[in-house]
Amino acid sequence: MIIDGKQISQSLKDAMKIEVDALAEQYGRRPCLMVIIVGDNPASRSYVRGKIKATEYCGFDGHLVELPEDVSEATLLAEIDKLNNDPLVDGILVQLPLPKHISEDKVIAAISAEKDVDGFHPENVARLWLNQHCILPCTPKGIIELLDQAGVEMAGKKAVVIGRSNIVGKPVAKLLLDRNATVTIAHSRTKDLAAVCREADILVAAVGRAKMVTAEYVKPGAAVIDVGINRTEDGKLVGDVDYEAVLPVAGAITPVPGGVGPMTITMLMRNTIECFLERQILGKSYVQKHFQLRKFLIDMDINEQKYIPQYLSHYNSIKCTCSQLKRKCCGIWKVSKRRKKHGISEQNEGTYITRLQ
Ligand code: GUN
Repeated sequence: MIIDGKQISQSLKDAMKIEVDALAEQYGRRPCLMVIIVGDNPASRSYVRGKIKATEYCGFDGHLVELPEDVSEATLLAEIDKLNNDPLVDGILVQLPLPKHISEDKVIAAISAEKDVDGFHPENVARLWLNQHCILPCTPKGIIELLDQAGVEMAGKKAVVIGRSNIVGKPVAKLLLDRNATVTIAHSRTKDLAAVCREADILVAAVGRAKMVTAEYVKPGAAVIDVGINRTEDGKLVGDVDYEAVLPVAGAITPVPGGVGPMTITMLMRNTIECFLERQILGKSYVQKHFQLRKFLIDMDINEQKYIPQYLSHYNSIKCTCSQLKRKCCGIWKVSKRRKKHGISEQNEGTYITRLQ
């Protein structure tokens, strides 16, 4: 089976477009994404064009802030500060890489964690690894969505991720672990990489080496997710996987282009909507840590909400006890058992939007 990321991403964007219109009607404004680009790197320009096109398609407010290659770090940080403090801005993205004289770490840390739609801020990274509510990085989030949509079971399966980057390898490994896969992170120093990969029921290639993953890396029937975007000498885009060779062996595979790439942008749109909803519906910053659970649950009772965000709707049928609820990430959860724990009484039985801690 070919996992058609382009088509999946299109249908998600179509749903978001309708959702955004409903949000605009209800709240009198649209989710707003600000994209900052520094300099003229052609690849960055092309990625940013794709992001702006998607914001327009989904009906967001969004603007591109273009800064010259020689802009000072201080000017860039001041621009970010302005957007952090603008109540009408939901998401801020600074396109990477940045020119050498600017510290990427400093810039990423300067973006407000609640507006960090890339999920790169140290606070969001820490929260991901602590199982706390956070903004997920777009590519890993898109990969899980692709596996879900393709009906690939993750629980109990062996997953191998090739690549240990902060943006893809490490976070996707964590998300697979959260879905109860047994996860190996392989890399350039892994001994007998092909044999390690052949063990995988789910193989994620995020190394940045054209066609490195050949048929001998793939267990028959495995799901193969290709994150690579490599340009060959004749200008063709190819992935990290030798697609033609692996296609007959894999049970499911993402093509390049048209696999993970479109999902990354679509998840950026989703993150922007989630940031908007955090601010508009939930009202509180998730960095406010010490609120009362009971009050929080009552606040979040969706029976009082006019609108259930589309991105939460697939959680609708999940039931949990109050103590499980306390550990869940953002979603709609039904409290099905009467428990008097954590200050929750039977009157708290119901369905809640949560984004705990
Ligand atoms: N450069 C390449 N990929 C990305 C991305 O996902 N986010 C940002 N901000 N810059 C990038």
